[in-house]
Amino acid sequence: MSQVTFHPYSEQSVALRDLAHVLGDGQFHQMTALCAQLGVSVETLSAQLQALSACAGLIEVDEEGVRSTHPFEIYRPEALTDALNATSHARELPLLLCFDIDSTNDLLAREMRAGLTIPAFALADSQRTGRGRRGRVWQSPLGSNIYLSLAWRFRRPLNALSGLSLAVGLAIAEAIEAETGLALGLKWPNDLFLGGRKCGGILVDLSVDRDSVKAIIGIGLNVGMPGDVAHSIDQPWADLRGATENPICRTSLTAHIIDALVLCCQRFDQSGFTPYWSRWRERDILRGKALMVLGDNARTGYCEGVNEEGALLLRTAEGVEVIQGGEVSVRPADRVEP
Ligand code: BTN
Repeated sequence: MSQVTFHPYSEQSVALRDLAHVLGDGQFHQMTALCAQLGVSVETLSAQLQALSACAGLIEVDEEGVRSTHPFEIYRPEALTDALNATSHARELPLLLCFDIDSTNDLLAREMRAGLTIPAFALADSQRTGRGRRGRVWQSPLGSNIYLSLAWRFRRPLNALSGLSLAVGLAIAEAIEAETGLALGLKWPNDLFLGGRKCGGILVDLSVDRDSVKAIIGIGLNVGMPGDVAHSIDQPWADLRGATENPICRTSLTAHIIDALVLCCQRFDQSGFTPYWSRWRERDILRGKALMVLGDNARTGYCEGVNEEGALLLRTAEGVEVIQGGEVSVRPADRVEP
């Protein structure tokens, strides 16, 4: 039986969640009808709308009523529990469900310091300070995308975890393809691509703990990015809904990704990246391309794919360089410098 629990939050955010659930349909709602539906006074509703606007934007209010500028879907714990119970691997694990949090990775780190037993998941409808790789901001508007983190203890040493984020990327890409039919590409080390643009990313925070390594694996996946948030994204992006006419249920997709993640972490702890290697290469969007490796020692070369440990192989004038993930970033280059 799945253990979806709300992350403890104030009564105010319970009310905000209910309000957001109603407004997520993108329709116009008259103030008086909304007050009656939610059982609150006009004054209370006005205060809640202000608070919701502050955390989510996306809300247009005038004297007559209110609507959201973009339809969104708030997680319902019952529906999420049902979806998780229908999976094979995730039904036993605790999941902290949050309406509005700083970052699901940071939440798990705090909860672990306070004694949370792991494995455990955190899932949010929105993040205020979602973190991307290399200190970037991860745009996390309300009820539109997936913001998910998993805390897992690996028995293998730190240096045997280098392919973890690649394996996770593959597991997510396969889960998305099974659920939506969309074929995603993978860009080393841990970006998910759709039609040549990034639609998701993975942020792994590691800490060594005696004979094991604790990992917090954060996944951000653009399902339906609202137009008024899109202009704040500092790189070409894609979302799943923009690539298919078929409806995508965020709850069902989230449950399938959670299921795939659990299986992936179990297998990776036993066997590392090797079982994922050939399937990863089928989705590799960099292989055979001219590349620039960014960072202190920027250089160009041709990508020869990844090796069995998940390191990038870059052919340069000096030979084949093996590049580990870490904080390195790569991007396609127009040409290779001699
Ligand atoms: C990247 O830069 O590509 C990684 C993005 C990771 C974003 C996810 S959203 C859930 C989790 N919480 C965060 O603050 N970041 C990760």
